[in-house]
Parts: sequence; C-alpha cells; structure tokens
Amino acid sequence: MTVLLVKTADGNINELIESAKYALDNYGYGMSSVRFICGTQNLHKTLEEKIAKFFGTEDTILYAACFDANGGVFEPLLTKEDAIISDSLNHASIIDGVRLCKAQRYRYANADMEDLEKMLIKSQEHRFRLIVTDAVFSMDGNVPPLDKIVKLAKKYDALIMLDESHSAGVVGKTGRGITELFNLRGEADIITGTLGKAFGGAIGGFTTGKKEIIDILRQRSRPYLFSNSIPPMVVNAGIKMFDIVSETSELQDKLHNNTDYFLKEMKNAGFDIKPTSSAIIAVMLYDAKLSQIFANKLLKEGT
Ligand SMILES: Cc1ncc(COP(=O)(O)O)c(C=O)c1O
Repeated sequence: MTVLLVKTADGNINELIESAKYALDNYGYGMSSVRFICGTQNLHKTLEEKIAKFFGTEDTILYAACFDANGGVFEPLLTKEDAIISDSLNHASIIDGVRLCKAQRYRYANADMEDLEKMLIKSQEHRFRLIVTDAVFSMDGNVPPLDKIVKLAKKYDALIMLDESHSAGVVGKTGRGITELFNLRGEADIITGTLGKAFGGAIGGFTTGKKEIIDILRQRSRPYLFSNSIPPMVVNAGIKMFDIVSETSELQDKLHNNTDYFLKEMKNAGFDIKPTSSAIIAVMLYDAKLSQIFANKLLKEGT
C-alpha cells in the first residue's frame, strides 16, 4: 500500500503520511463526536481556514465527504419559494441533495447555455435561483463554460454553486479550479469539494464561500450537525496537502505536462478523445466489450 502511494505522488505523499501519523500520536484516533459537541480540535479550524484561503473565500465548513457537503447544502439555504437549476450530468450527490430540498427543480442539458437561459427565464418568479454544476464532469472530463454561466447568472440575478471535486487541485495554473481556469475567481457563491481526490485521497469534503452562507450551514446542515467529525489524522494530512499546493504548483505542473503528453500521443496513435480541459481523458472505443478487453490488457501491462 505504501509503495503504491509513494509511486503515485513522489515524495509529497510521505509528508502526508507523516502528518497523519503525527496527528494520530498527538491528537488521537477519532473524536467520538459531532463537531459542535466535542468534535472540534484546533486542527479542524485550521484546515477550514486553509481551504478558504486557497479558494479566496470567506469561510469553510468540513464534512465527512463531499457527498455529505452536497447532501447538506441545499435544504438549509433554499425553500419552496426558491429554484435550483441543475446540469443534467451533475454528480449523484448533487441530485440527492436537491431531492432533500423543497425548492423547485429545473434541469438543463449538459453545459448547454441556451437551455440554461431557457430555465432561467422559466424560473423567474422564484425568490432565489441557484445554478448548480460540476466544475469537471467525471465521465468526459469536460468543463462547463463558466464565463457564460456567470454572464447568465448576472443577467437573471441567480447564484452559482460549483462542485470542484474533480477540478480543485488539478484545473487552473495553480490548481484553484475552474474559477482560475476562466479567470473568474470570486464569482462562484458556493464551492463544494472533496479531500478524497487531489487533496490526499482519503476521505473528507467541504463547502466554502461567503461567511453568511457557511454560518447558516453550521447551524442547519444535517450531515454536519448529525454526523461524526473527520478524524484528526485525515485533517492534519489535509492541512499538509493545502500547504503544499498553496506554496508551489510543482505537482500541478507535472500533472498538466503528463496530461498534455498523454493527450497528444493518444491522438497521434489514432484514438478518438473527447474534448477535455481537465486531467480526465475519455478514450472513446464505442464498444463495451472491446473496452473491457482493452482495460484487461492495460491491467496486464500494469497500467
Ligand atoms: C463531482 C463529485 N462530487 C462529489 C463526489 C463525492 O465525493 P466524496 O467521495 O468526498 O463523497 C464525487 C466523487 O466521486 C464527485 O465526483
């Protein structure tokens, strides 16, 4: 297991393991509590601050997973007077979160701005409207046109929520996600993300944004209120990871170079690749059986 980790992320993964071990020895194995009873250590507060600083937001709230962050974000903020306008390919956790909320639901075709505008026009009678989209869609690796979403949100007075799970730590020159890619930092009202991918790969999620929004979530978001706090070793490794990605974009540079190289050489080799702006590269074989054979051969190659 350790060998695999060292292989995938060079020396930095050792620093994460050291941070996790340090927290295990000095802060204990687990909190046996939700955050607001006795599940908050200074580590949790520090990680929340570091995440907010990384994204340039005002405050952050941690969850056991991004599934919980998305599950607990809509219901406390929106009522039946409001509307959620959701991309048709959004992650299952967004879909479940929307189901738990009484706001009216509108769905637009994947990254289709004409359809989004239609939904914004259709939903105009609602008090608040929240456009919600994955920042990178996990199947094709495509990115929604955030510049156009921001323009439409301004035109129709809507809020924007991004799920940066596949994007933060990866997309943008320094890995700040798609708001960096489009040079629109500060334009998303709510950002959710995971510690389970680029930021360590264990578990944990977060919502980051305006202080007023995070304050409401701390008071009313059910997966935060009624579920155990993240274990200190995961939190301390998370702190280390945000320190690393805040200080240098070395890991992102390497990833971007690898991605560009893979994309170029796969295209040169004649493969059909879906347009991507992320590290997810969908190699289209258009045949389920062939893709299984292909995957098995790759496994045999040790890929
Ligand atoms: C877009 C997106 N959102 C949320 C999640 C859930 O993240 P977590 O594993 O932290 O629950 C995932 C996980 O695959 C994801 O791809």
